Amino acid sequence: MKDPQTPPDPLARKLGVLISGRGSNLQAIIDAVKSRRLNAEISVVISNKSDAAGLRRAEDAGIPTVVLDHRDRATFATREDYDRELVRELKVRQVRLVCLAGFMRLLTKVFLDAFPNAIVNIHPSLLPAFPGTNAQYQAWEHGTKWTGATVHLVNEELDGGAIVMQEPVPVLDGDDVDTLSARILEREHHLYPLAIQLLLNGGWRVEGRRFVAAHHGG
Ligand code: GRF
Repeated sequence: MKDPQTPPDPLARKLGVLISGRGSNLQAIIDAVKSRRLNAEISVVISNKSDAAGLRRAEDAGIPTVVLDHRDRATFATREDYDRELVRELKVRQVRLVCLAGFMRLLTKVFLDAFPNAIVNIHPSLLPAFPGTNAQYQAWEHGTKWTGATVHLVNEELDGGAIVMQEPVPVLDGDDVDTLSARILEREHHLYPLAIQLLLNGGWRVEGRRFVAAHHGG
């Protein structure tokens, strides 16, 4: 049986985390690295908003931060210009896996092509149900009995890339959107570091829509 903590090539452990707000998933990744549940290094945290609370979390953990304000039209005339700069910031730090953690921007081909099968996102539903924004509300409003969290690779389709890991979460009778969101978020924090470790361990492949994990049988 392969030890999941076997150190991969040190360069291949480098993460870039992209945020726009609260950064609780970023915190979960920071905590998992600190407690050695996740064998990785966060090389940079990038936010498109200067007031994102997650920036503070990164600073507190001694992680370099970069703010790229998408509203700065003088610097970023197009979405592609913006993404080119994002790619530059990530490549200069030799980032191998880009983790979107509440990063509220659609990525262009410039970004996707620079990191093939190396951009990952967490979404608060069991995809393909309820893609897009307010996924927790969508599930609650629809009246599903189960929803959950999904970690998926990012492609040109909104929340449509290959599914890496999922975790189900029950919708309880007394739930409102806030209680449901909190229950999902707690599972997100558990799931995201696990999925990142799986990706960093390598040996997996994507077959059509399907993510096929490495076979660890001995
Ligand atoms: C999470 O619910 C995540 O699933 C979604 O955006 C939210 C980000 O929250 N993509 P946080 O900034 O990580 O606290």
